[in-house]
Amino acid sequence: MRMSQFFLPVLKENPSEAQIVSHRLMLRAGMVRQASAGIYSWLPLGWRVLQKIEQIVREEQDAAGAQEILMPTMQPAELWRESGRYDDYGQEMLRIKDRHDRDMLFGPTNEELITDIFRHSVRSYRQLPQNLYHIQWKFRDEVRPRFGVMRGREFLMKDNYSFDIDYDGARRSYQKMFVAYLRTFERMGLKAIPMEADTGPIGGDMSHEFIILADTGESEVHCHADFLDFSVAGDVDYDSDLSSIIEHWTSRYAATDEKHDAERFEAKVPADRRISTRGIEVGHIFYFGTKYSAPLGATVTGPDGQDIAVEMGSYGIGVSRLVGAIIEASHDDDGIVWPDAVAPFNVGIVNLKAGDAACDEAAGHIYRTLSDHGLDVLVDDTEERAGSKFATMDLIGLPWQLVVGPRGLKSGQVELKNRRSGERVELSIDDALSRVSTA
Ligand SMILES: Nc1ncnc2c1ncn2[C@@H]1O[C@H](COP(=O)(O)OP(=O)(O)O)[C@@H](O)[C@H]1O
Ligand SMILES: [Mg+2]
Repeated sequence: MRMSQFFLPVLKENPSEAQIVSHRLMLRAGMVRQASAGIYSWLPLGWRVLQKIEQIVREEQDAAGAQEILMPTMQPAELWRESGRYDDYGQEMLRIKDRHDRDMLFGPTNEELITDIFRHSVRSYRQLPQNLYHIQWKFRDEVRPRFGVMRGREFLMKDNYSFDIDYDGARRSYQKMFVAYLRTFERMGLKAIPMEADTGPIGGDMSHEFIILADTGESEVHCHADFLDFSVAGDVDYDSDLSSIIEHWTSRYAATDEKHDAERFEAKVPADRRISTRGIEVGHIFYFGTKYSAPLGATVTGPDGQDIAVEMGSYGIGVSRLVGAIIEASHDDDGIVWPDAVAPFNVGIVNLKAGDAACDEAAGHIYRTLSDHGLDVLVDDTEERAGSKFATMDLIGLPWQLVVGPRGLKSGQVELKNRRSGERVELSIDDALSRVSTA
């Protein structure tokens, strides 16, 4: 992509409405534009990041055996009357009437709709387990939409729903998602810590929120510092017993304020390993048994011929919130510092003298070579001043910057800058190309 043609409305000034750094940087880097409170348009730079995040989520769901579908944003109210949630949900639900005066709603979540699909399609325990997911816009008319895409009214969520014949099956489905979430967030360069969350009337230990530590987070959290060194590197065989991974990740204290127990925290965690800070909830997994399958009649015939209400769980990832959360976790004074896996482009080429034959030719050669390697490349071919080009590159946070200028080219050199470390080196074009494409 050429910067001269790219729709990148960067702001020179800090927007006054932004209270936290991710919101400020997303507006300054021209990633999103607010359409109305808590509702955003995604501009090319932001959209590219959102799609990269979505793709990681998708790949890890598929790897764990979930299947992708797409349910609509609009749902009929009747289903929610059946589950009893139409009135309970309150003002957060956007209620709409169609031209026939039928009650509709813009889905805030999809338990009812998926349970309806299931009850019309599955009859026997032999067809279980099932796990279906979709990545779809949700609407919740939040009282206080704020912090940009972190707490929006319209936001993109990956939500999935598992169906099992019994509790043991549901537990396995839950464990698969637990591990899939660890892998998903780790691939995005995030340290997400699973924290015990409220299970409501169902009880048990099968609800976790995945939390990124950040001062600007909305929840107060407490955990053991050991989590900062945990990792799920390596392949996972989802058909194997996952208990040891779960045990490892639940072996240390971690709880949000709702579940926090100061006495237990102090007993279990040495003083110098206690972290009490704020966190951003990027995912939430939840086992809820027959809460929806029973009222909606989602039953299957069991091995003994009896009808059994299926055991369900639901699992959410805040896909659009993640864009903000990643920036909260990875930025500096000059702008965003994208982890490679979600960067809108892998490399930015700064052509210091667009129009100069040697510079254009070198920039073009680098662009084509890297693109052929499957990298996404943005080349700044504008006539802006050098200082302004560098500032924009730092602001939009691409992992690598390759600076092509007339002086260096005389001796066949370009400058390679690593956005995260700030390290700059002068290299031959070939060396720079191999450094970037093998990184
Ligand atoms: N208003 C919102 N704006 C952006 N993302 C949200 C919003 N509400 C929830 N999410 C994301 O969706 C995930 C699943 O939602 P859920 O747990 O149902 O929400 P909540 O915790 O607000 O009840 C959350 O972990 C969060 O990452
Ligand atoms: Mg939640």
